Amino acid sequence: LVGATPDEVVVGNSITVNIHTLIGTFLDELLAGNGPEREEMARADGEWDRSVEPAVLVNELDFPSDHYAIRAQLRQRGIDPDEKLRVVESRDGRTIDPRDIEAALEAHDDVGIVWMPTALYRSGQLFDVERIAAAAHEAGAYAGFDAAHSAGAVPHAFGDVGVDFAVWCTYKYLNAGPGAIGALFVAERHHGLTPALAGWWGHEKATQFEMRMTYTPADSAGAWQIGTPPLLAAAPLEGSVELLREAGIDRLRAKSLALTDFLIALVDDRLPDVSVGTPREHGARGGHVALEHPEAERLSKALTDRGVVVDFRPPNVVRVCPAAPYTSFADVLDVVDEIEAVLESGAHEAYATGAGGVT
Ligand SMILES: Cc1ncc(COP(=O)(O)O)c(C=O)c1O
Repeated sequence: LVGATPDEVVVGNSITVNIHTLIGTFLDELLAGNGPEREEMARADGEWDRSVEPAVLVNELDFPSDHYAIRAQLRQRGIDPDEKLRVVESRDGRTIDPRDIEAALEAHDDVGIVWMPTALYRSGQLFDVERIAAAAHEAGAYAGFDAAHSAGAVPHAFGDVGVDFAVWCTYKYLNAGPGAIGALFVAERHHGLTPALAGWWGHEKATQFEMRMTYTPADSAGAWQIGTPPLLAAAPLEGSVELLREAGIDRLRAKSLALTDFLIALVDDRLPDVSVGTPREHGARGGHVALEHPEAERLSKALTDRGVVVDFRPPNVVRVCPAAPYTSFADVLDVVDEIEAVLESGAHEAYATGAGGVT
């Protein structure tokens, strides 16, 4: 599904915890003077050389939890996140132009980690992982990705395109259900590092139960597991991943694009007050479509009450995700019928805004 060897992928923890441990691990590497083309960095030897404190490059449309975790990891190493979390801005409020990532790398030679999503959570813009990884490496930085919005929907080749590490969840396109366990990728060339959040479940498997007081990391991505995995949150993957494998990620992607093409065409044709905030080119969009409307919050509540499972993302986005394994073209048509009916009748005006919570 993500283009990795079995040793490079493991389930464990949650996305946010996996960001903590992976960003922490690779910051430690940078501070120790290691990293792509970073031999010139002074070895830390217990004292960090402030002039080479590594920065992490992110973007302003990221899922907020990523920034919280990265800021925390910088802080814990005595690095000021206000200075060293470098944020690429969006030109249009919906997407990130890859040229702006490259320009930020040109402008700042302290970037040690480029951390980007594979697909943006709000607009659904799909990033060019290979291009970003190449730019990061050329700048002497690691390339890490949050693949929450593409793993299981879009084929990836993390190993082949040089990704250093990545995280994703299994409760979106991997269909393991709410609260299901997280997953991560660490390229084989980094196996053997000591994770920032070390725990006994990441210990070398052959000797894990010898209960030694010293930690020997597993020689695989398994080292980034921490404690006992929540088996009830992992078990559904046995079924869901098998189904995805049987369907085939390329066929799922083809159907997903056909479903979202159909949705976009219907919206263009029938919903004049709704705009599509997702890029239209196939290569630039993931599996969901962002419908923009000034009353997006009320609209999403009205749709939910009519049995249409969408969600609202402030300020004006209703995310519609026709998951390929089980959504039909007739379902897409029904959703557009419902949106049209709600907006034409004004039914959404009966709903309050600002109640918060998960939608
Ligand atoms: C892109 C992205 N990153 C991170 C997270 C946080 O995931 P978790 O709550 O599993 O830590 C989410 C949650 O939806 C997300 O969509």
